[in-house]
Amino acid sequence: MDTTTRTPRTPEVDETVYRLDGPLRWALGEVQDLLRAAGAGPGQRVLDVGAGTGYATVPAARTVGAEGGVHCVDGSAPLLEVLEERVRREGLAGQVTTQVGALVPLPVADRGYDLVICTYVLHELAEQAPAAVAEMHRALRPGGRLVIADYRKTSDPARNREIEAWYARQPDGAGPEERHLRFTLGDLEEMLRAAGFQQTHLSTWHDFHTHAIAAR
Ligand SMILES: C[S@@+](CC[C@H](N)C(=O)[O-])C[C@H]1O[C@@H](n2cnc3c(N)ncnc32)[C@H](O)[C@@H]1O
Repeated sequence: MDTTTRTPRTPEVDETVYRLDGPLRWALGEVQDLLRAAGAGPGQRVLDVGAGTGYATVPAARTVGAEGGVHCVDGSAPLLEVLEERVRREGLAGQVTTQVGALVPLPVADRGYDLVICTYVLHELAEQAPAAVAEMHRALRPGGRLVIADYRKTSDPARNREIEAWYARQPDGAGPEERHLRFTLGDLEEMLRAAGFQQTHLSTWHDFHTHAIAAR
């Protein structure tokens, strides 16, 4: 991505950056745990789908080291600029590339990656989520791993409404068009199965989050 021209930062972008870069969120070690569980290691090629400001990118780049690399695709140029500044600050710029682009289809070659990671994006993609998961399958080499984290819709509608209302009340809360609790564990399992993933392992994390690891 050309970083010599900066995209103007709107209040909406500032709000998104504030939400994605909450210090507590980054301190939880969520992505590090997922990378470990997926067997990520030095030298691997990683694709970060909907990378945003780099929540998954930074731990992934540290894990794969200088012999590996992380390619980040996201539709938002200003968020990728925040990511680029972050990886420069962290001394990881040499391992990270960025691309403004769609997630369906992904602008990457078939079977090019050892690991695909996608955190807190599927709920935003909504009806496009199954097609995005199929694209992630296409981008992985045979035997490669997929890591997904997202919000979990529970089987209790009242509980789901309560959680959504809590999010909406936050100062930086997302609007109704960006609902968090879109998919149950079963929905995600079905998407993974339909895309051709195997050895699928799904778990809940802090009750209303889903973690999934699967193999191509
Ligand atoms: C909630 S953020 C998550 C970002 C990051 N993965 C994280 O966990 O902090 C969702 C990201 O997906 C991107 N995104 C959502 N829908 C998209 C689409 N249709 N095409 C490209 N990017 C999209 C947004 O720009 C945003 O960066």
